[in-house]
Amino acid sequence: MRYLITGGAGFIGSHLADHLLAQGHHVHAFDNLSTGSLDTIAHLADHERFALTVGDVCDKPALEETADGCDRIVHLAAAVGVKRILEHPVETITTNVRGTEHVLEIAHAHMLPTLVASTSEVYGKALETVDDLDTLAEEGPWVLGATSKRRWAYACTKAMDEFLGLAYASEYNVPVIAARFFNTVGPRQTGQYGMVVPSFVKQALAGESITVYGDGRQTRCFTHVLDAVEVVDALMNTEAAYGDVFNIGQPNPVSINTLAERVREMTGTDVPIEHVPYEEAYGEGFEDMRRRTPDMTKLEQTIGTRPERALETILNDVIAHAREKRQRSSPQAPVASLTADAFNAA
Ligand SMILES: NC(=O)c1ccc[n+]([C@@H]2O[C@H](COP(=O)([O-])OP(=O)(O)OC[C@H]3O[C@@H](n4cnc5c(N)ncnc54)[C@H](O)[C@@H]3O)[C@@H](O)[C@H]2O)c1
Repeated sequence: MRYLITGGAGFIGSHLADHLLAQGHHVHAFDNLSTGSLDTIAHLADHERFALTVGDVCDKPALEETADGCDRIVHLAAAVGVKRILEHPVETITTNVRGTEHVLEIAHAHMLPTLVASTSEVYGKALETVDDLDTLAEEGPWVLGATSKRRWAYACTKAMDEFLGLAYASEYNVPVIAARFFNTVGPRQTGQYGMVVPSFVKQALAGESITVYGDGRQTRCFTHVLDAVEVVDALMNTEAAYGDVFNIGQPNPVSINTLAERVREMTGTDVPIEHVPYEEAYGEGFEDMRRRTPDMTKLEQTIGTRPERALETILNDVIAHAREKRQRSSPQAPVASLTADAFNAA
């Protein structure tokens, strides 16, 4: 099978490429290297079944050319990260809506099974505002804030991607799945765009204070990226999954304060944990969710399994990767330079 992965040089995309290549598939990554990088796929430079095209999903002809000959699409390319979304609202909206339109038009033209990445952000503040709601289920409500609050733009674009994907599925029978990822974490994720686990680990290893936004009592559920890519693969191989939306996550909430303490323990450091008001980090009027816990019933019923790797495993893997990266970037380590030309044609 030939897979096109948009956002294939990103965090989830690079792990998905590894997973699919290990199964004998061909992978063509399409990425503009905005938040992704050649570093994440450097180990695939000489792989005979892997290719990279550097391009933008808003450039439909380039995307069409790359999709030529592919059997399936996993659409991960998007403007991601709260920080980036607050700083570049136009780019976020355009990339996430126009890019998905292009992917779905191409999927329709060739009737390609396609998975579109969505996010737990689409649920917005549902857990805090809807009575008697303990977990977030795919058919449940979503509650977003005012359009003047930029962070909700990301959720809205991803919800629009879902609507469009489901519309192509029901109106034109294009096999489309929408997958709502909940805080997916693992090696290669960068903390540069506001992702909490890599940021905490980087701060702890550098001997700096761990910065917790707000009071730190807000909870999140973390999923190992290796679990997430296994689920993506399983969904795409399950006929009953097409035309539907799925949570990809774990229903085990951990407070951000506890997370910071675990990172401190597991890195063997005794750095201080510092609380910073949201306004200082993200500007006046920033809204966050207190809780975000997925209901995993639907996924488990559909593919017979769900993400299971524990937080300890996730943190162990992230810390090991961060340590190795620090060593590689030490002034004594040789600097390897890689360009996009180094990647073979699949
Ligand atoms: N990691 C998470 O916790 C999480 C949670 C919810 C949803 N998601 C979704 O999963 C997908 C992958 O996220 P990730 O965590 O791997 O982030 P990432 O930033 O590592 O991956 C996104 C990739 O898309 C590329 N990209 C961005 N704009 C592009 C454009 N216009 N054209 C081509 N490529 C472009 C980036 O360079 C990057 O490689 C995204 O759609 C994201 O919204 C991720």
